[in-house]
Amino acid sequence: MSESVPVIPESAPFTPEQRAYLNGFLAGLCSRGSVATAPRQASATIPLSILFGSQTGNAEALAKRAANEARKLGFTPAVHDLATYAADQLPSEHRVLVITSTYGDGDPPDSAKPFWERIRNGTAPTIADLQYAVLALGDSSYPKFCAFGKAVDERLEAMGGKRAHARLDCDVDFETPFASWIVTALQALSGSSNGTAGSHSQPSTLNSQLPQYSRSNPFPAPLIANRKLNAPGSSKDTRHLAFSLEGSGLEYEVGDALAVRPCNCPELVGELIALLGCSGSDALNGVSVHHALLHDYEITRVPAAMIKAAGERCADDTLRQLSGADLNKFVHGMDVLDFIRRYPQAKFCAADVALLKKLPPRLYSISSSPKAHPGEVHLCVGIVRTEFGGRPRKGVCSTFLADRVPSDATVPVFVHHNKNFRPPSDPSTPMIMVGPGTGIAPFRAFLEERRAIGANGKNWLLFGDQHAATDFLYRDEIEAMMREGTLARLDTAFSRDQDEKIYVQQRMLEHARELFAWLEDGAHFYVCGDANRMAKDVDRALHQVIETAGGRTAEQAADYIRQLSSAKRYQRDVY
Ligand SMILES: Cc1cc2nc3c(=O)[nH]c(=O)nc-3n(C[C@H](O)[C@H](O)[C@H](O)COP(=O)(O)OP(=O)(O)OC[C@H]3O[C@@H](n4cnc5c(N)ncnc54)[C@H](O)[C@@H]3O)c2cc1C
Ligand SMILES: NC(=O)c1ccc[n+]([C@@H]2O[C@H](COP(=O)([O-])OP(=O)(O)OC[C@H]3O[C@@H](n4cnc5c(N)ncnc54)[C@H](OP(=O)(O)O)[C@@H]3O)[C@@H](O)[C@H]2O)c1
Ligand SMILES: Cc1cc2nc3c(=O)[nH]c(=O)nc-3n(C[C@H](O)[C@H](O)[C@H](O)COP(=O)(O)O)c2cc1C
Repeated sequence: MSESVPVIPESAPFTPEQRAYLNGFLAGLCSRGSVATAPRQASATIPLSILFGSQTGNAEALAKRAANEARKLGFTPAVHDLATYAADQLPSEHRVLVITSTYGDGDPPDSAKPFWERIRNGTAPTIADLQYAVLALGDSSYPKFCAFGKAVDERLEAMGGKRAHARLDCDVDFETPFASWIVTALQALSGSSNGTAGSHSQPSTLNSQLPQYSRSNPFPAPLIANRKLNAPGSSKDTRHLAFSLEGSGLEYEVGDALAVRPCNCPELVGELIALLGCSGSDALNGVSVHHALLHDYEITRVPAAMIKAAGERCADDTLRQLSGADLNKFVHGMDVLDFIRRYPQAKFCAADVALLKKLPPRLYSISSSPKAHPGEVHLCVGIVRTEFGGRPRKGVCSTFLADRVPSDATVPVFVHHNKNFRPPSDPSTPMIMVGPGTGIAPFRAFLEERRAIGANGKNWLLFGDQHAATDFLYRDEIEAMMREGTLARLDTAFSRDQDEKIYVQQRMLEHARELFAWLEDGAHFYVCGDANRMAKDVDRALHQVIETAGGRTAEQAADYIRQLSSAKRYQRDVY
């Protein structure tokens, strides 16, 4: 940002995200001269297709915001979900913005898989007239950071497209980088470095466009229930949490997630301040070091920037060269306190707090139907408590919710809509739900919703956890749903009640014929919970069910599942 660019002062009544957004916006305007001069009138509008690939809604939300920005610059944007966008349309496009996240092990989000299948190989259409730019969303704690966005960017170039603007790879804290990038990307796509695509209205309406409670302005929701769902003797601590949304105007649908902005553990913050050799009241970017470490920065993971800094300061080539999977392996289990203690020669001090990553909100699948619990939202949260190097470790948000929020105190939350995870719109369509552990959360909501609307579709739940006696989450409610007929079928897999582990996918295979019959009857198939192992194994079991009970070859079964996905009959909410 040049020195002459006006900035929104920190005293202005905006959250840091709003301020960053507005500053990015002003920077964009200044780089086009739009602040100094009156906005130009549009001479013509430029069609722009904005394609998004999203699992949990971040890319979709940014695509919609990109469309708003594009409109102001004189484009006529059309926003398309890659789930329904035909890749064969690409040759007729001239300007395309792709905004996509990455999932699995560097894979596309589920909804973008058919698009990727179509463009990834030599039979893809040629796109000589296409100018494009890619915004990749990801999380640098995964080894394949933004891998799918990178792959799309390279593939579009290989297909003959012209990269109008360099790709931006965004980490979990994507608001500020997005706000600056979108302005320059749109300028580049307009074919004009000074933004002559059309008119640009002043950002006077920006504030009024921001919804009252949102990601940038979370609602302080009173915590009205915090109940342990595991019985004494369990090795797990899973909580039923309820918040009041009264007066917030926030609305959600079943399938949505609630985002929670946590605080770090105050004891850990205290230890870190002592180690940094400063006082908690020292100032850092307009707040105290204590405030910054408590609210703003992730202190339980060591960021790459801190490792690089230690590499430089200690002239340690091993540290300097660490990247990708090696870097993740090196920092696994370590927190910032461990790292600073391990490298005293790096002399980390209060100013180095800026090397840390911003503390991102955590998402939780909503476990209630608003029809069953008006004015409330419920969650089912697994509390992360582990031990590493002789010190107990606590998941930031799960222990914040379980241990550090007093009853009736408020927690900053916002709704994260997820239209890719919804019960069937036809209430008579059958549902099969596979939700071990906390994966039960959205299915409690789906079932409550179906009961509230009197849906007559059959419902089948497959649930699993360690022990029936202690870990059968929401047992009373689930058994009541069986008795009253809301649930037509319930299969459980308690993994540690016998010598051999039994998992939900084993139940799928045992009941393969019935499961296949439900699918043939139009059932939607849902999976929620652990992404690393469970969701992959359940997917494999689904292939096996279709092969064995459906009499299909492996290739036919894969095709059957692809069709289920593209018909939105196979939906996953995995983490
Ligand atoms: C779309 C979505 C929906 C989600 N829904 C739910 C939900 O309904 N319920 C729910 O509980 N969570 C859910 N999560 C996960 C949730 O967002 C958090 O990631 C989780 O609560 C951990 O956050 P934390 O801040 O407590 O832990 P963090 O401070 O983020 O620490 C977690 C760290 O602990 C490690 N870890 C995790 N589990 C273990 C373990 N068993 N043993 C050792 N180390 C471990 C991980 O490597 C990770 O680095 C969802 C996530 C997404 C993306
Ligand atoms: N445990 C925690 O402290 C904690 C807290 C918050 C979030 N998380 C994360 O959130 C997700 C869900 O955690 P959770 O505690 O609700 O449930 P979970 O750890 O997924 O366990 C639920 C059940 O699934 C079983 N399971 C393990 N591997 C499986 C596989 N490959 N296929 C099918 N089932 C399998 C477990 O058995 P076994 O355990 O007997 O193998 C258990 O019976 C995981 O990603 C987990 O890492 C964990
Ligand atoms: C189960 C899971 C797997 C993920 N895998 C990756 C990954 O391999 N690489 C990456 O950069 N980000 C990964 N992410 C992070 C997401 O891409 C990131 O949270 C993104 O903002 C989500 O955007 P969306 O809501 O539009 O899907 C993963 C997230 C989850 C929950």
